[in-house]
Order: sequence, then structure tokens, then C-alpha cells
Amino acid sequence: MYTEKVMDHFENPRNVGEMADANGIGEVGNATCGDITKIYLKVEDNIIKDIKFKTFGCAAAVASSSMLTEMAKGKTIEEALIITDQMVAEELDGLPPQKMHCSNMAAQAMHVAIEDYRKKQGA
Ligand code: FES
Repeated sequence: MYTEKVMDHFENPRNVGEMADANGIGEVGNATCGDITKIYLKVEDNIIKDIKFKTFGCAAAVASSSMLTEMAKGKTIEEALIITDQMVAEELDGLPPQKMHCSNMAAQAMHVAIEDYRKKQGA
């Protein structure tokens, strides 16, 4: 039911883990299934220099988080904010319709992390 890309990112997740010196952190939960995604950012000169994630969730949620980190790394904050759940799902060559909601957490958690970063900068 999953594409090869989803399986690859689920089995070999990129940028997984915590980040001690993150300057932006965002956490989003899915009320329906109870799963959670946390995104850690290290922003320097308005660029996402490093990004890590921790996801307690299904294969689609883990793969979406992994793909999101690859899409956001090296981008400016403004470029990263354009990334949507839909774009993450498309990069994974699609998700089964009943699993589309699982892709929601990754981009949302990054948006919350960027908000957190901006707050910490006093913006
Ligand atoms: Fe919870 Fe997929 S079932 S994120």
C-alpha cells in the first residue's frame, strides 16, 4: 500500500533524533490516533542549517517527517514556510487516501518550530 519512497524513508529515516542546541522546537499531535511529531531546528542567518525529528507514529508519519527534513534543510525560513503537507506527500510519490492525515504533522510541526524560533529571537 506504500510507495517505495515511503518504505525507504520509513526504514532508513533521515535526520532522526534530538538536537541539544536547537533554537526552534515544534511539537504537533494527531488527535485521532494520538501520534506525535517533534521537530528541532538550528537556524543561522535565516537558513535552516540543521533539522531533526522524533515521531511516535505510523510508517506514513515517520516517512513524512523524514522527507520534510530533507526538503527543509538548507532552505531559508521563508522558503521552508511554503512547504505544505501536500507537498511532502507528493515528494513521497503519494500516500494512501486513508493515510493522508498522517502527513499533516511534519510540516505543521516545522511551522510551529519556526514560530518558536522567531519568538526566541524576539520577532
Ligand atoms: Fe497516526 Fe498515521 S496513524 S499518524
